[in-house]
Amino acid sequence: MDQLSNPSSYEMPSSEEAGQSILPETVGKFIKCGHTLHMLCMLAMYNNGTKDGSLQCPSCKTIYGEKTGTQPKGKMEIYSVAQSLPGHPDCGTIQIIYSIPPGIQGPEHPNPGQPYTCRGFPRFCFLPDNEKGRKVEKRTTTFLVTMLMLHINVISLLTQHHSMVTRLDLCLSARRQVLELLKVAWMRRLIFTVGTSSTTGEQDTVVWNGIHHKTEMMSNLSGHGYPDPNYLENVLSELASQGVTEDCLKPP
Ligand code: APR
Ligand code: ZN
Repeated sequence: MDQLSNPSSYEMPSSEEAGQSILPETVGKFIKCGHTLHMLCMLAMYNNGTKDGSLQCPSCKTIYGEKTGTQPKGKMEIYSVAQSLPGHPDCGTIQIIYSIPPGIQGPEHPNPGQPYTCRGFPRFCFLPDNEKGRKVEKRTTTFLVTMLMLHINVISLLTQHHSMVTRLDLCLSARRQVLELLKVAWMRRLIFTVGTSSTTGEQDTVVWNGIHHKTEMMSNLSGHGYPDPNYLENVLSELASQGVTEDCLKPP
């Protein structure tokens, strides 16, 4: 939080190799977002984290490198269910089952060497599937053609239609994408962590890690069920804040 014109108040850690010294005045610039930071502050930030080869800009949260988490060993299974979720009548359901058995905490966890518990596992989660989603888009197009034939405010309709289709496309691709991105997040150990449960207060237990999942299929007693028209958008932004974006799905 010092001014950049003053030197960093961090010192070069003694563990760093000799000859690689960084001066307290040296300022670095993040390549994608352009934010600036004292290099020694940046180094201190890295050494205080999980040291996984990734860094997050403290100003705008842009992630550099591949952020990984501390999720313990377990299994992610994916099934298809031929039943619709409330609010998604046009498609079936993807069911994700997370299984994590209890174990001993590693050096990346809050109390290394101590055991961790696993409450409520296997955890069942639900996503809308995309199979029949296209039908909605077709209906919109037919609606537009009818309106055009009626010569009603063509320009404004075209604009509306364009944004409507974009939004539907986004919605349809988002459904497919969320599952793929959740798989990436699982591989990067970002879905769960070991810590204190905010629901039960239990310590040294496996807990959700900021990427919200829907754990109720046909009810919404916990508030983590359907309908929730904003869910796909919200989970996409939670994934993005962990560095898991569409870019991760592109071939290298
Ligand atoms: N379903 C999905 N997410 C939940 C639930 C739930 N029933 N309860 C809480 N969360 C979300 C919270 O909104 C919070 O963002 O998980 C995050 C972490 O909350 P914790 O209580 O610390 O998480 P955890 O102890 O892992 O789980 C609470 O979730 O899946 C259930 O069986 C699980 O009952 C347990 C509950
Ligand atoms: Zn930034």
